Amino acid sequence: MGAGLYRRTLLTISNNKLVEHLSIRYGRKLASKFIAGDTLEEAMDRTEELNGQGIMVTLDHLGEGIKDLSEAAGYREEYLKIIREIAKRKVNANVSLKPTQFGLALDPEQCYANIRAVVSEAKYSRIFVRLDMEDTPYTQATIDIIRKLHEGWLMNAGTVIQAYLFRSEEDVKALSKEKVNLRLVKGAYKEPAEVAYQNAGQVLDNFKKLIELRLKNGIYTAVASHDDKIINWTKDYAAKNNIQKDTFEFQMLYGLRMSKQAELAQEGYRVRCYVPYGAMWYPYYTRRLAEKPANLMMVLKNMF
Ligand code: FDA
Repeated sequence: MGAGLYRRTLLTISNNKLVEHLSIRYGRKLASKFIAGDTLEEAMDRTEELNGQGIMVTLDHLGEGIKDLSEAAGYREEYLKIIREIAKRKVNANVSLKPTQFGLALDPEQCYANIRAVVSEAKYSRIFVRLDMEDTPYTQATIDIIRKLHEGWLMNAGTVIQAYLFRSEEDVKALSKEKVNLRLVKGAYKEPAEVAYQNAGQVLDNFKKLIELRLKNGIYTAVASHDDKIINWTKDYAAKNNIQKDTFEFQMLYGLRMSKQAELAQEGYRVRCYVPYGAMWYPYYTRRLAEKPANLMMVLKNMF
């Protein structure tokens, strides 16, 4: 089965309610490979360990697609707690959040107000806030939130651009002019052929094009990938074009390629590990399994 078909099949299966029920009942222990813990305390401990290896962190309190706005208030409070804890423990970390966790699908104005509260609090402690990018119904709305925050002088917020989307080149060009800090990724959702490349090679080519657009403009960029084809290409491009190592960072997910993360940090690259924690682990976990048959095999091996 090709990589694209594998990914789409697993994403479809994981949306099935019975599969979700069985996985939640039996899967939490298996998911612990990718999740730093249930509590902020556990995530902070992991953060200190990673900082000890020269790896920076972005903390994610798991949650997305809330059904009631009162849940968004809970997430907002948890993120305020994370920010105070980062400042108190003086760890090298920032935060990543999902707009639909803050109510984007229910009430965009309230979502903006919730996110603004977090970004304002973070600004006082010089902490950066990343709005993760979800599926295409939310792409423009997420970019709009970032623009509104910047108009209000909250420049410590940025977002993510997905290389699989046709629109991304134009988005990168526009957001680069506006000096928005971006994380570049391949893209983790199931998107139709009308809006997204379905072929892995095309996604890879577009990813490289987006990295080049950013690095040559000197605007701080996170290159988030476990793929050596992306990591090595970025290293070569930076070396050939005298791009300073402090103008970009590599990012990888907690539990994946941890020795590669440490190796890059030892080579003097800025490396940040995305550390998720909390009870709402199921959708995050199934996206990881969909990305790579080897991730699924790793979980199955632990099962038996
Ligand atoms: P991919 O999984 O496609 O693997 C390609 C190749 O890389 C493999 O064939 C293998 O050669 C190598 N490889 C991968 N994993 C390996 C391993 N464990 N060991 C050895 N080799 C390995 N998506 C999104 O839509 N919105 C978002 O906001 C984010 N945010 C985000 C943050 C961070 C920090 C990361 C790393 C990723 C995201 N993503 C994301 C997910 C992203 O879009 C994408 O789905 C995954 O990163 C998988 O793509 P990769 O580029 O990592 O390689």
